[in-house]
Amino acid sequence: MKTVLVLNGPNLNRLGSREPDVYGSQSYEDLVHDLTQLATELGISVEIKQTNDESELISWLHQAVDTKAEVIINPAAFTHYSFALRDACAIVTTSGLQLIEVHISNPHSREEFRHNSVISGVATGVIAGFGIDSYRLALRQMAH
Ligand code: DQA
Repeated sequence: MKTVLVLNGPNLNRLGSREPDVYGSQSYEDLVHDLTQLATELGISVEIKQTNDESELISWLHQAVDTKAEVIINPAAFTHYSFALRDACAIVTTSGLQLIEVHISNPHSREEFRHNSVISGVATGVIAGFGIDSYRLALRQMAH
């Protein structure tokens, strides 16, 4: 069975209470529940993780390569400045595995510092602005 890793960066564990006008009212637990259910419907296996720690996120990307898992990642604020995370994402995609960058909000319609992603250039694709559905769309794409 195909395995997809869904990795979430800093502050996403606060979904639901964090700026609900921007990120919606669904909690991180709701997100995990929804994606787990969708994965079952799609016949794929999903592992969903969150960390506030850049080095942990990088280690998970290395593990994705070692276990040949494809990746959906919401790098959160690391999107905009973490070259270390970009390099780790590049290791995934240059190994032939897909990596989809997702965002709940549309960073391009927000503050200027969010307009640049250092991740997008090494991602297979990017989905942003559809709320929690951004993840669902990415998971469906991975199931192809
Ligand atoms: C985010 C957008 C980022 O700019 C922000 O730092 C986040 C969440 C999103 O999902 O919309 O933490 O990645």
